[in-house]
Amino acid sequence: MAQGEKLFKGNCASCHKVDSKMTGPALKGAKAKWEGKGDIYAWVKNSQAYLKTGNEMAVKIWEEFKPVPMTPIALTNEEIDQVFYYIDNYAPPKPVVTVAQDVAANDEGSNNWLWLLVLGLLFAVIVLSLGGVKRSLQSAVHEAEGKGPLPDASGWQRFKAWAWDHKVFMSFVSLFITVWVILKLWDAAWVIGVYGGDEVAHYKPEQPILFNHTLHAGKADKGNLAINCQYCHSSAEKSKHAGIPSVNVCMNCHKAVSTGRTEAGTAEIQKIYKHAGWDATAGKYTGKEEPVRWVKVHNLPDHAFFNHGSHVAIGKIECQTCHGPIDEQMDVAEQWAPLTMGWCIDCHNKTEVKMAGNGYYDEVMARLNNDEKLGHRELQQYLEDGKITVKELGGWECAKCHY
Ligand code: HEC
Ligand code: HEC
Ligand code: HEC
Ligand code: HEC
Ligand code: HEC
Ligand code: HEC
Repeated sequence: MAQGEKLFKGNCASCHKVDSKMTGPALKGAKAKWEGKGDIYAWVKNSQAYLKTGNEMAVKIWEEFKPVPMTPIALTNEEIDQVFYYIDNYAPPKPVVTVAQDVAANDEGSNNWLWLLVLGLLFAVIVLSLGGVKRSLQSAVHEAEGKGPLPDASGWQRFKAWAWDHKVFMSFVSLFITVWVILKLWDAAWVIGVYGGDEVAHYKPEQPILFNHTLHAGKADKGNLAINCQYCHSSAEKSKHAGIPSVNVCMNCHKAVSTGRTEAGTAEIQKIYKHAGWDATAGKYTGKEEPVRWVKVHNLPDHAFFNHGSHVAIGKIECQTCHGPIDEQMDVAEQWAPLTMGWCIDCHNKTEVKMAGNGYYDEVMARLNNDEKLGHRELQQYLEDGKITVKELGGWECAKCHY
């Protein structure tokens, strides 16, 4: 069963579901259906070749699904048996429980100190004004006793007098507050090496369609669809922007997949149809398209320059290094890295570039080698510690990142 499940998820799940139609038909009961009517092993191994035998069963299925062919699949008869054993004994999974609430709770945690500060200030104001009330009562008593009003003293003056009496305590308190404020400011400005820690805002705007990264891009062995990031963010390797897919990309699958895992999921899929102008009952496009206005999650300021192509294709950095476990625990896409200058240059300082076999760097090295003034000396230095970091190739130069 487990082996069959693995084979199914690895070879068939991108086009088939067990109990409903996707790119290909639902597979539950297929084995029994073919019994005595055709060779299901030959079909799975190479359906287009098997069609040429003119088998009636095969032709009927092809007529329904053409022009999308089923790709040839290299499995043995035994493995195919395991796959169908899994299919025929499959039970639908329980609904997925989300972790969104935990994340929301964490978000609030990072604002707690701010609330404490506000509450503290409010408290101080109340204490001081109560002090004022007490004083005017005292003053009224004085007047009634015929001694005249008390000399006026504001809360601030009384506070100063009190502070003067407690000089040592007060200097400790102000020293503490000053250091704490400086540390907070410093942290906020740099946030070095804090990847997805408390300091990060985890900005997670609400989106017009609840698109779930974990479900679509997560690992197959956890029951997810394992779609490659670049299937949707196809320009990440070539250009500055990774790009957000148009609704047509969603329709590649959702023309056939009209139900989600939950009722709410199904309602979200209806929104795709609305934007794509797809009439699901008639099974055709109405022509009334309406682009989805996704809310941008990552926002670098205009003066900073970042290019996906150079990091993904040349630097060979995984998407998850900068975007976190978006395919494991983000039902809603969120900002995971701090995106501060400290974050960029910290990585440039630490990350060794993989030179060997990378054509781009062969050229850089040749350039350094030819630069009489600078090249020889620096190159020598690199070769001594045997490491070349992004910083050493200019990754700390202001002009590389600022227009
Ligand atoms: C690239 C997409 C794709 C993959 C991967 C794929 N199939 Fe298919 N399959 C199809 C399509 C599409 C059809 C419908 C016939 C056609 O258009 O060729 C189909 C039809 C079938 C049929 C006939 C269905 C019926 O109702 O009798 C069987 C059986 C089948 N596939 C089994 C498998 C198995 C088992 C695997 C994995 C080992 C697999 N397929 C992988 C796309 C795929
Ligand atoms: C099936 C299509 C699809 C796949 C696969 C996919 N994404 Fe996305 N991605 C989207 C859509 C649509 C959005 C915009 C909606 C949103 O932010 O949730 C998006 C948004 C994002 C964002 C936030 C963009 C912003 O606004 O700043 C990041 C980061 C991201 N994806 C990374 C990834 C990574 C990494 C993977 C692979 C692990 C991946 N995506 C796989 C469709 C996809
Ligand atoms: C070195 C860090 C890094 C890596 C690696 C990286 N990204 Fe990004 N990504 C960023 C930053 C920074 C932004 C914000 C860019 C901006 O606002 O101009 C961003 C923005 C995005 C966006 C929003 C739209 C856009 O293009 O600006 C998407 C989608 C995205 N990344 C997907 C991906 C995917 C998919 C991969 C892997 C193929 C990937 N990223 C790899 C740092 C990275
Ligand atoms: C390669 C195929 C494929 C692509 C591309 C794709 N999806 Fe899906 N999506 C699926 C499948 C399959 C399911 C149903 C999963 C299930 O029921 O197990 C699904 C489910 C969903 C759901 C329901 C989730 C739930 O919780 O029930 C939504 C919403 C959704 N997709 C939105 C999108 C959007 C928006 C896009 C385009 C940016 C997109 N999908 C692109 C295959 C795809
Ligand atoms: C996870 C590590 C990492 C992070 C984070 C990172 N970089 Fe990089 N960066 C690299 C690597 C590795 C290279 C070398 C690849 C290359 O030469 O293009 C590089 C190269 C660059 C280059 C030089 C590209 C060229 O064509 O010469 C620029 C500019 C750059 N990064 C900007 C940024 C900015 C801006 C940020 C922050 C928003 C950032 N990087 C965050 C690892 C990172
Ligand atoms: C690896 C890329 C990178 C390099 C190198 C770099 N910066 Fe930045 N810098 C950034 C990013 C990204 C931001 C935006 C961060 C933010 O808004 O928090 C930024 C922000 C700034 C800001 C504005 C701060 C703010 O609050 O908006 C100044 C000023 C600045 N950089 C100066 C410099 C100077 C001077 C150098 C050269 C010594 C330099 N930078 C080198 C990436 C870089």
